[in-house]
Amino acid sequence: MSDSPKQPDPLTMIIFGASGDLTRRKLAPAMYNLSAGGNLPKFRIIGFARRERSDEQFREDLHKAIHQFSRAGTVDARHWKAFAPCLSYLSGDFTDEARYKELKDRLTAAAQELGSGNRLFYLATPPSLYPDIVRCIGEMGLNEPEPGSWTRIIVEKPFGKDLETALALNREIHAVFSEDQVYRIDHYLGKETVQNILVLRFANGIFEPLWNRNFIDHVEITMAESIGVEGRGGYYEEAGALRDMVQNHMMQLISLISMEPPIAFEAGEVRNEKVKVLRAIRPYTTESVKTMVVRGQYGPGRVEGQPCVGYRNEPGVAPDSNTETFVALKLLIDNWRWAGVPFYIRTGKRLPRRVTEIAVRFKQAPYLLFRDTDVKQPDQNLLVLQIQPEEGIFMQFGAKVPGPKIRIQAVNMDFAYGTSFQEDNADAYERLLLDCMLGDATLFTRHDEVETAWSIVTSIMDGWKQLDDGQGSVAMYGAGTWGPREAAELIERHGHRWRLP
Ligand SMILES: NC(=O)c1ccc[n+]([C@@H]2O[C@H](COP(=O)([O-])OP(=O)(O)OC[C@H]3O[C@@H](n4cnc5c(N)ncnc54)[C@H](OP(=O)(O)O)[C@@H]3O)[C@@H](O)[C@H]2O)c1
Repeated sequence: MSDSPKQPDPLTMIIFGASGDLTRRKLAPAMYNLSAGGNLPKFRIIGFARRERSDEQFREDLHKAIHQFSRAGTVDARHWKAFAPCLSYLSGDFTDEARYKELKDRLTAAAQELGSGNRLFYLATPPSLYPDIVRCIGEMGLNEPEPGSWTRIIVEKPFGKDLETALALNREIHAVFSEDQVYRIDHYLGKETVQNILVLRFANGIFEPLWNRNFIDHVEITMAESIGVEGRGGYYEEAGALRDMVQNHMMQLISLISMEPPIAFEAGEVRNEKVKVLRAIRPYTTESVKTMVVRGQYGPGRVEGQPCVGYRNEPGVAPDSNTETFVALKLLIDNWRWAGVPFYIRTGKRLPRRVTEIAVRFKQAPYLLFRDTDVKQPDQNLLVLQIQPEEGIFMQFGAKVPGPKIRIQAVNMDFAYGTSFQEDNADAYERLLLDCMLGDATLFTRHDEVETAWSIVTSIMDGWKQLDDGQGSVAMYGAGTWGPREAAELIERHGHRWRLP
């Protein structure tokens, strides 16, 4: 993980999919903010997409997008004057090899202007186009760095749709780029609160000694969205919550919370430990899918006071769709640190509110000292890492209620980012783009990490396929609830209860 604000060397960024949603919402605002914050060197951005656009129109499009989506909510005229001339546009189909000749010429010209041949390709396109784009880049020789320069490629999620397709995509990419040129992005890793998991664990002496099966009873991870599929029903029908959230974001949180301490804070070492713990996750069998995994789908209901239709009535969704909009699962990590400690994870759409948090529940005190008083079994100690929208950490423990009797009540010790730090919270894409430009891959996903995460998720999908032959349809839940009854039962079977976030 780099220590910004180091400045990268001059570079040209080529955005494949420059007229798309991701470019407008995230990439353009991130590059603008980095530039306005003085974090960028001399640079050029070449936008590449299908529709016809002049350079001037492209600049206007991005100006509007930055105005709409940038965290500042505005475009500073002075910064824009410096930023806009660095933008240009190339139109064409990504499968048309002739357009890559034009791209090569533009890159040569940019390198001369900048005095640097550094190139950053960004794949912000439908994933089905990744293989064609990578192949064409290779055929034009644009993958090879100029002497003294670097060439890197950022690949957006989804990275494959199961283990087999992820392996195939890695093969196609590796035919053109070496692994150290490839930056697979999961924007969750760019969030301050996610990076803080490592700081909490490894920069403090008090937590790590407790961070194991001797003291932790279980871990709950919740990643809830209140929104539905937002007009992307067609996409979601192919994805579902397991692929869309568990394979990437959830696996990232699980690996950060459960990994062994790396020997150095450096990309290779951190990623080695993440892969190692992912490999220790017990794969699912058809039998364990039945008892340890719940898939749900929202029906009609109300979220935040607003009525909403059920998933099957969303545009682009089949009326008899079995796609899951909710998954809850119990996950076991078979290693010395975690043997026997269940990790309960759940994610879903149309839940009561948007919230992501990790709750670590510690074991009870070994002996109830206050048994001749009114005190029943006190609550388990709880450490909650709040990822979003609240950003912070709190610890819950029992305290004596003032008065002559012994009564115990759970109280909180709180840390909130907003009140503890004055610094502006940079967007995840700003952080990750800058890290990539600096050649720091710590917060990007390595090929074996993606493959290991897919192998776990694929074992669940295989189980579902088997069950679909006979039983096994999704469990319905009302929009605005915390998921189907079966999700509550999953954790209650082991004497626990989901925390109400
Ligand atoms: N949107 C997000 O917030 C978000 C978040 C995380 C990850 N992602 C990932 O980012 C990627 C892009 O998503 P998106 O939402 O930006 O998609 P999008 O809005 O559909 O944009 C797709 C882009 O690709 C271009 N394109 C498609 N086919 C092309 C072809 N054959 N030749 C040339 N250009 C072509 C489109 O150009 P024209 O429109 O000019 O045809 C457009 O610029 C996807 O992999 C997605 O999963 C997106």
